[in-house]
Amino acid sequence: MCKTARLERFFAATASIAKTREEDQLLQAVISSAQEVIEAEAASVLLLEPDGKHLRFAIATGPRADKVLEVYVPVEGSIAGWVVTRQRPLNLPAASEDPRHFSGVDDRTDIRTQSLICVPLMVGEEAIGVIEAVNKHDGRSFTDEDCRFLQAIAVQAAYALKQADEARRRREELAQLREQMAAEEFIVGREGGLAEVFEIVAKVADTKTTVMIRGETGTGKGLVARAIFRASSRYDRRLVTVNCANIPEELLETELFGHAKGAFTGASGTKKGRFEYADGGTIFLDEIGDISPKLQTKLLRVLQEQQFEPLGSNHTISVDVRVITATNRDLEAAIAEGRFREDLYYRLNVVTIEVPPLRERREDLPEMVNHFLKKFSLEMNKRMFTASPEALEVIHNYTWPGNIRELENAIERAVVLGEGELLQPSMLPSHVQGKARDNIFAGETLEEAQRNFRRWFIAKTLAAHDNNQTRAAETLDIQRSYLNRLIKQLEIDKLVGR
Ligand SMILES: Nc1ncnc2c1ncn2[C@@H]1O[C@H](COP(=O)(O)OP(=O)(O)OP(=O)(O)O)[C@@H](O)[C@H]1O
Ligand SMILES: [Mg+2]
Repeated sequence: MCKTARLERFFAATASIAKTREEDQLLQAVISSAQEVIEAEAASVLLLEPDGKHLRFAIATGPRADKVLEVYVPVEGSIAGWVVTRQRPLNLPAASEDPRHFSGVDDRTDIRTQSLICVPLMVGEEAIGVIEAVNKHDGRSFTDEDCRFLQAIAVQAAYALKQADEARRRREELAQLREQMAAEEFIVGREGGLAEVFEIVAKVADTKTTVMIRGETGTGKGLVARAIFRASSRYDRRLVTVNCANIPEELLETELFGHAKGAFTGASGTKKGRFEYADGGTIFLDEIGDISPKLQTKLLRVLQEQQFEPLGSNHTISVDVRVITATNRDLEAAIAEGRFREDLYYRLNVVTIEVPPLRERREDLPEMVNHFLKKFSLEMNKRMFTASPEALEVIHNYTWPGNIRELENAIERAVVLGEGELLQPSMLPSHVQGKARDNIFAGETLEEAQRNFRRWFIAKTLAAHDNNQTRAAETLDIQRSYLNRLIKQLEIDKLVGR
C-alpha cells in the first residue's frame, strides 16, 4: 500500500476509533484497519486479564478467528506477554522459531505463524494488552513502517478502549443503582410462609449484626438479603453484592480487597476492593460456601477487626461494613471435612435465617402464581392474569425442587407460549404436569386412588378442550350426559370452578 493510501487509511481509522463508544465496535475498527493497511493474514487484539497472568483475545480476524477467541495466552511464555511486560514492540520475520512463541494458537487453528508483529496497547504508563498481526501477504516480512503504523493505531485504540471501559463501568454502576432504587421488590409470603423469616429480618435489620441466610437454591435468599438492607439505617449507603461462586481465588481476592500497584504482573495501577467500596454500607457475600481457605482467613480478620490489606500492600485499611452472607451449601459438612473454617462459621452465623423451600410453604402458591402471571403479562403485553383451578392444582401437587426460580421460569414460559387469559395446566412444563399425576395416583384405598385418577383425567381432558364438555366427551368416548354426571359426582366442578 502506498504512503498516501496508508495515511488516508490511518486517518479514517482514527476517526472511527474516536467516534466509537462500544468496545466491540471499536475493536472491530482497530483490527480491520490494522489488517488491511499492513497487509496481514490475520490480526487480533489481546487484553490483559485482571489476574495479570493471562491475555484474552478480545477480537481476532482471519481464518478460524472463532477458534482463536477461546484461547487464553499466558503472559509468561508468549510473544504477546513479552510485549506487554516489556512494553516494547516486536517485529519477527520467523515468529514460530522464536523461543517466546506460544504454540497454543497455531495448534487450534489453521494459521501457521511466520512473520509476526506485536505492539503494546499503552494507557499512560500501563500496558493493557497488545495488537498483533501475523503473516504479511506473499510470504514477506513486516517492515519498520508497518510497526510504526501499528503503534500509532495502538495509541488511539488504547485510549478509546479505556474510555469505553469507563463508560461501561459507569453504566454498570447506574444499573446497580437502579436495581437498588427499584428494589422495593414485591415479596410474596411476608405474612404467609415467610412470616417467621420476616420476623427475624425486622429484628436484625437495623443492627450491624452479621447475618447468614441459608436455604435451598432458588428460595429467595438474595431477596431476603436485599430486604434486610432496605430495612436498615444503612439504606442510604451502598449495598455491594459479590457472588463468590465460580470466581478464581486470585480474582476474588482482588475483587474483595483490592490490590496495590505492582502486586502482580500487569497490576500497574491500584484497585479498590469491594469492602472498601462498601465502607459505611453493607456487603452481601453470596455463595459464601465456595470461598478458598486463604480468603476465609482474610475474611475472618475483616470480621474480627474490620481491617485488611489489599493484595501486595502493607497498608492497612479500616472499614465499617455490615456483612450479610448466603449459601445453599452444607457448611457443617464442609467444616467436618476441613474445607470451611469453624471460627469463620461462628462469626458469620451470629444470626441465621433459614428460608424454607417452596414445598413447605404451599399456602403462598396461589399468590406467588398470580404475582408472576401479572409480572410477565405486563412485560409481554399479554393479559394472562389468572390461573385456572386445574393449573393451580397441578402447581400445588408438584414438588418444586428448583423452588421459586423454577416456578417463576415455568410461569414465564407459560405466558410467552400460552394463549388466552387463563393459565391452563397444558401450558406448564410437562414434568410439572407429570409430577402432579404421581400425586393424583395417591390414595389410601383402591377406590380412593381410582376416584382421584378419574377426577384428574377428566379435569385434564376438559382443560385440553377449553372446558367444552361436548368435545371432551367425544375424546373420552363417553356420552356427554354421563360426563356431566361424573363432573358432579367427582366434584370436578369444584376443581375447575364451573
Ligand atoms: N417471596 C418471593 N416473592 C417474589 N419473588 C420471589 C420470592 N422469593 C424469590 N423470588 C424470586 O425468585 C427468584 C430466585 O430468588 P433468589 O435469586 O433470591 O434465590 P436464591 O435463594 O438466592 O437462589 P440461589 O441459591 O440459586 O442463588 C428471584 O427472581 C426472586 O426475585
Ligand atoms: Mg442467590
